[in-house]
Amino acid sequence: MYFYGDPDMNSPQSVLDLIGNTPLLKLTKFDAGPCELFVKLENQNPGGSIKDRTAKAMVEAAESDGSVVPGDTLIEATFGNTGLGVSLVASHKGYPVILVVPENAGRDKVLHLKASGAEVLLARSDVESSHADYYRNIAHRLERELPSGFYLDQFNNPANTLAHEHGTGPEIWKQMGQRVDAFVCGVRSGGTFTGCTRFLKQMNPALDAVLAEPKGSLLADSTDSKKAAVAGSSLIKNVGSHASPGNFDPDVVDHTYTVTDMEAFSAARDLLRMQGIFGGVSTGLHLAAALRYCRQQKKAKRVVTLVSDTGYKYLSTAYDRAWLLNQGLIPQRHYGDLRDLITRRADEGDVVSVSPDDTLIAAYTRIRMYDVSQLPVLEDGRIVGMIDESDLLMAVFDKREYFEYPVRDFMITRLEMIEPDASITSLLPVFRGDHVAIIADKEKFYGLITQVDLINHLRNSMSNHD
Ligand SMILES: Cc1ncc(COP(=O)(O)O)c(C=O)c1O
Repeated sequence: MYFYGDPDMNSPQSVLDLIGNTPLLKLTKFDAGPCELFVKLENQNPGGSIKDRTAKAMVEAAESDGSVVPGDTLIEATFGNTGLGVSLVASHKGYPVILVVPENAGRDKVLHLKASGAEVLLARSDVESSHADYYRNIAHRLERELPSGFYLDQFNNPANTLAHEHGTGPEIWKQMGQRVDAFVCGVRSGGTFTGCTRFLKQMNPALDAVLAEPKGSLLADSTDSKKAAVAGSSLIKNVGSHASPGNFDPDVVDHTYTVTDMEAFSAARDLLRMQGIFGGVSTGLHLAAALRYCRQQKKAKRVVTLVSDTGYKYLSTAYDRAWLLNQGLIPQRHYGDLRDLITRRADEGDVVSVSPDDTLIAAYTRIRMYDVSQLPVLEDGRIVGMIDESDLLMAVFDKREYFEYPVRDFMITRLEMIEPDASITSLLPVFRGDHVAIIADKEKFYGLITQVDLINHLRNSMSNHD
């Protein structure tokens, strides 16, 4: 039996001892055809992802071959998870850290990295891997320029693959009672896929190694899918690649399943709703590919995939209905008029509003909570006013007690409304005046359209998140 805090009972000495040895669980609520599907909960590592293993292994390997000595600065190129792992290991061991992060990595990840004590350099996300400003090239340059700098380079560092060949793979084999028929996983650096697969194939040469690829990644092309891909078009940023990384061994791949963003995001949400497991978007990709593989089998197989990071890192994206709607990742009723551009629709219960009798403090709280700058004021389903940040500020600047007064005393009531069947160009004069478009007719308020909603609409009509 294990007692927390008992010094005689192998208590962990530091957070580094909590990396790895994660639980493995059978999924019981999904239709896995004739197969049994298991997930290894890598979200339970201290940094919330499988990359803690990679970070620990790379830093310890560099220490043991003398590449890194006390006082050196660790450099890594990362979309977030490896950076967090490196930060965690480095803060325990006392190394300063510089992380080069593409600017589309996501706000929450960047905040987390900064809070963990690392210096974060944001890199352009719109450049090819040959460009000097590509995040991995910047990390190489930093290493050359900084005499005490060491670039860990998860993409080519063999310690990354070994962490999984000697750690994650053997754990899976043991936890599965030495019976694993297939392993499903995505690739960024390739360390996880290659390392786990190498070990598992040694144990069971008949193992099916299944590569889960976001649509738009080019690795699928280098394996067995011959479909043309659009590089980098996926919203899943920590799996998939424009080029084959050094740690990826395409020869170990038996099958490739390409998954759309919509499938992956929806699988991640299903996993939380149906099994209470809170994974990130690459977990959704793994699950969608694993389920497809399982359902296509004729014989019963024991299949393993990974919950590779925690959903907490994606609360404002994959788990935010408004964001998903904006990205076109959840189906929404199509009207063929301006209502299609409304993200928060009144008739679907998504609109954020106040009533005329709500207080200014209620309006202020809602504006902050939903990160909007104005609210429609609704009464019996009709719009009777608008209140925005500047109305609030002007109201309370001299008299703080007005926070307790009703919205009706301060709202704007002279409203210009646009009927849903008006043309899209009718929005432009409203936006030129820096206003928000109110979509309503005499009976009903349908919602607001902001400038960003129109930009999103134009962008979504170009890309295909099918
Ligand atoms: C959550 C998550 N899943 C999967 C991967 C891909 O793993 P690998 O870099 O070992 O290919 C990453 C890589 O950063 C990741 O962050």
